Amino acid sequence: MKTIIGNWKMYVGVRESVALARGMLYALRGKKIVPHVVICPSFVALSDVRKIITRSHVALGAQDMFWEETGAYTGEISSRMLSELAVSYVLIGHSERRHSLGETDEMIGKKVQQVFRSGMTPVLCVGETAEERAQGKTQEIVEQQLHQDFAGVEYPPASELFIAYEPRWAIGTGMAATPQDAVVMHQSIRGWVKEIFPSIRDEQIHVLYGGSVDGANAYAFLREKEIDGVLVGGASVKLTLMQEVLSAAIEAMEGEAHQSS
Ligand code: PGA
Repeated sequence: MKTIIGNWKMYVGVRESVALARGMLYALRGKKIVPHVVICPSFVALSDVRKIITRSHVALGAQDMFWEETGAYTGEISSRMLSELAVSYVLIGHSERRHSLGETDEMIGKKVQQVFRSGMTPVLCVGETAEERAQGKTQEIVEQQLHQDFAGVEYPPASELFIAYEPRWAIGTGMAATPQDAVVMHQSIRGWVKEIFPSIRDEQIHVLYGGSVDGANAYAFLREKEIDGVLVGGASVKLTLMQEVLSAAIEAMEGEAHQSS
């Protein structure tokens, strides 16, 4: 199974989000093999998008969440509020939040814990900057992020865990990593997650690639067995590009089915 997550960032409002959700459902209609699709609209569009995707294959995700369940935290959104809207996935530690909004590993860890505690599934985003990559520190940085973000986090035995490997230099730049580089990182990430949570089973870990994925390059990532899916930003708010990404996922899944038969 391949997972496609659309991160709509702050690109679209309620009306456009509803139209996009409808278009995505249409693109999946009648398909025999369907990828696991999660869409992450802005908070204000969650309620309306939820109505469109109820009883479909598409799941709802949020782009962030606060770590306390309730209280005097002006402007924040809690797990309880998201659960009321049937949100099942939450992006945590997105590079834009780490680098532009000052989110620290400690804050990210608390958020991951709260997502688990409330029965939702975290999609933890990790990745190195261009500078760190140039210094040959990619592996070191990502390993460190995982260890710090999961420090003290209790992993509920039945949970799923999604990690999105998103090199910062690849996000929104049109310069995706190569599938070969992503495969190497995904193998390492799987190993580190198993070190951190020794009782986690292989099938509970899903490692996705993100950073300038579009209709033209999605298949090159998705055909790799180490790449469980992709996290798509800019291209996910352009319906034709997202339709191409979904077709690439279906093609990759048909290839897998063919190989295992
Ligand atoms: P991008 O963003 O696809 O626009 O590069 C990916 C992301 O930020 O999750």
